[in-house]
Amino acid sequence: MLSGAPMIDIWIEKYRPKSLDEISGQAEIVEKLKAFVRAREIPHLIFAGPAGTGKTSAALALAAELFGEDWKMSFLELNASNERGIDVIREQVKDFARIRPSNSLGFKIIFMDEADQLTSEAQAALRRTMEMYSETTRFIFSCNYSSQIIPPIQSRTVVLRFRPLSKEDVVKRLKYIAEQEKVDLSDDSAEAIYEASEGDMRKALNIFQAVASSGNTSPSRIFEMVGKTSRKEYEKLLRISLEGLFEDARNELDRMLIQQGMSGIDIIRGLHSAVRSSQIEPRKKAEVIMALGEAEFRIVEGGSDNIQLDALIARLSYIGGRLS
Ligand SMILES: Nc1ncnc2c1ncn2[C@@H]1O[C@H](COP(=O)(O)OP(=O)(O)OP(=O)(O)O)[C@@H](O)[C@H]1O
Ligand SMILES: [Mg+2]
Repeated sequence: MLSGAPMIDIWIEKYRPKSLDEISGQAEIVEKLKAFVRAREIPHLIFAGPAGTGKTSAALALAAELFGEDWKMSFLELNASNERGIDVIREQVKDFARIRPSNSLGFKIIFMDEADQLTSEAQAALRRTMEMYSETTRFIFSCNYSSQIIPPIQSRTVVLRFRPLSKEDVVKRLKYIAEQEKVDLSDDSAEAIYEASEGDMRKALNIFQAVASSGNTSPSRIFEMVGKTSRKEYEKLLRISLEGLFEDARNELDRMLIQQGMSGIDIIRGLHSAVRSSQIEPRKKAEVIMALGEAEFRIVEGGSDNIQLDALIARLSYIGGRLS
């Protein structure tokens, strides 16, 4: 028997949705795609939205549901940023489009990933190719911003906007995978992964797999891994600053700045969102927000992180009434 390293499943591929029903969130889009499947016809489409929200997955699932088992014969995936120029892309499109569709629907799908990487000239050239083969091909353009797609293409397509996934959707998917993989995942950890992922499911699954394989899925391990400070840490920094515990607050800040490599602006933003959702009395809250605004402005204008953050903590001590 041949020996070798054990195969490691990459979760983002292992748990790529295989059907439209398996796609988390994006409910309106999934409904529309299902309607296309029922009608056995699709328009040209633009899938616009942030990374890791299901654009490629939705295109693959759509093709599988439309064309059935042999869907790969009717689906061509091209990456606008990888290929060597628009002429190569047009040749590939032509070669693929020339062959009659082998399915009963009479068309094939060309999925153009990162379409917003194409220059407007390249897009214009592509549009002419698109027109030439419009009877037997449908294009799906994937991009982050549909505004980067030239108007003549936009006007011939239906734009579907993918959104960052909600906390509920990410946590649910993580719990499902935890169950399948028999890995412990507490509610706090699932939420920590969501927070770090910012609604990007690819990022969420990658973080989860990394901490799971390290054998420690605690929230602190998660934040350590992604170098991110959790809401609880900001709440603590805010609280001890308001309590006038200057040295403690300074130590906490150094930890964030040095060990976690955060910038002064990162910390001010984190404090801002912590104070916005905190229960402190309205007058103090307003004063804290004014102090944060001032510190942010000074740093942006070139003030040093170190001095401005020190000054900020000193200000918070006054606001907290611990210094007078
Ligand atoms: N809506 C979703 N439901 C379930 N899993 C998802 C979803 N979105 C992303 N994923 C997971 O993340 C992986 C990457 O997603 P996908 O390739 O569809 O993202 P994308 O939107 O095309 O991102 P990019 O803009 O980077 O191309 C998938 O294989 C899947 O594991
Ligand atoms: Mg993609």
